[in-house]
Amino acid sequence: MTQRFSFELTATDGGARTGVISTPRGEIRTPAFMPVGTAGTVKAMLPESVRATGADILLGNTYHLMLRPTAERVARLGGLHRFMNWERPILTDSGGFQVMSLADLRKLTEEGVTFRSHIDGSKHHLSPERSMEIQRLLGSDIVMAFDECPALPASEAAVATSMRLSMRWAERSRDAFGDRPGHALFGIMQGGVTRELREESAEALTAIGFEGYAIGGLAVGEGQEAMFGVLDYAPGFLPEDRPRYLMGVGKPDDIVGAVERGVDMMDCVLPSRSGRTGQAWTRRGQVNIKNARHMDDPRPLDEACTCPCCRTYSRAYLHHVFRAQEIIASMLLTWHNLHYYQDLMQGLRAAISDGRLAAFVAQFHAQRAEGDI
Ligand code: GUN
Ligand code: ZN
Repeated sequence: MTQRFSFELTATDGGARTGVISTPRGEIRTPAFMPVGTAGTVKAMLPESVRATGADILLGNTYHLMLRPTAERVARLGGLHRFMNWERPILTDSGGFQVMSLADLRKLTEEGVTFRSHIDGSKHHLSPERSMEIQRLLGSDIVMAFDECPALPASEAAVATSMRLSMRWAERSRDAFGDRPGHALFGIMQGGVTRELREESAEALTAIGFEGYAIGGLAVGEGQEAMFGVLDYAPGFLPEDRPRYLMGVGKPDDIVGAVERGVDMMDCVLPSRSGRTGQAWTRRGQVNIKNARHMDDPRPLDEACTCPCCRTYSRAYLHHVFRAQEIIASMLLTWHNLHYYQDLMQGLRAAISDGRLAAFVAQFHAQRAEGDI
């Protein structure tokens, strides 16, 4: 494999940046939104449809795939890309965060974490070394360091202790990852909402050295104001020439605010998950298609949207298939939501390139303030 992992910044506008991450499996235009394909599928979507929305990269999960169908089985079947029919880049989360929110009977030590599967109660172990092995077996292009994210609310002392453990695990992750040209390892900053802890975490990570840096431990219930408070300084603690990835964010206005503050990559289940529950995201805000006001409405969800859902189907039809619990309901709304998110990212990238991000953001907020239709 000759092409290595690289990141090139092409323009900045205020704190915001746009650029391209190059990998042997293709380019990732930044700021990038990564749809979540937790268990080897972006739910309700074919991979070619996900690509058609404009996605350059998907996210997969160590935790889910190690339990089912297991990383060893995926490796025997040719790796995750071939298994799920997505040949472009895949980023995998490292598992610690999902263990803390999903697994049963967790036991955390310096070495790692043992837990019971939320699926069948079977016993499993994750450590920095095992997480690196699983992500290598999956064939992940961007591997995340193994970290721990304290459940909130937590005391500052508990956040500090947890952050320092994650930094020791980051170093073990770096050692276990080894030399893998064309693949990248990202470190994950922790430290809650405390500036000094965020700075200490960033210094520990940059001393180890990673191909990219994630900001973890946000969007865990602290609220948008507190999150933006951290994002006002945290990206500035990280090297300018490496991608910055804000994990698990977010709503469209969270994404816009994060990009304004210098974030390059994000992921969230929101567009896909809310597509399955009848929540649509449009330029004019959030729409609940199950609401009776859509019952006789022949207009599309969003007149200006070019996705297959909006080009073809009426609000009345979408309302009907949701009420009738038809499978196409999840398919159409997920497609629209992912298309809207990728459209927003394309708009942000173009605005940063042209030096007109402030005007773009002002229009983004003005359209939402008008409300639906
Ligand atoms: N997803 C959302 N937040 C986090 C985090 O802090 N760590 C990891 N590993 N994944 C996340
Ligand atoms: Zn649409």
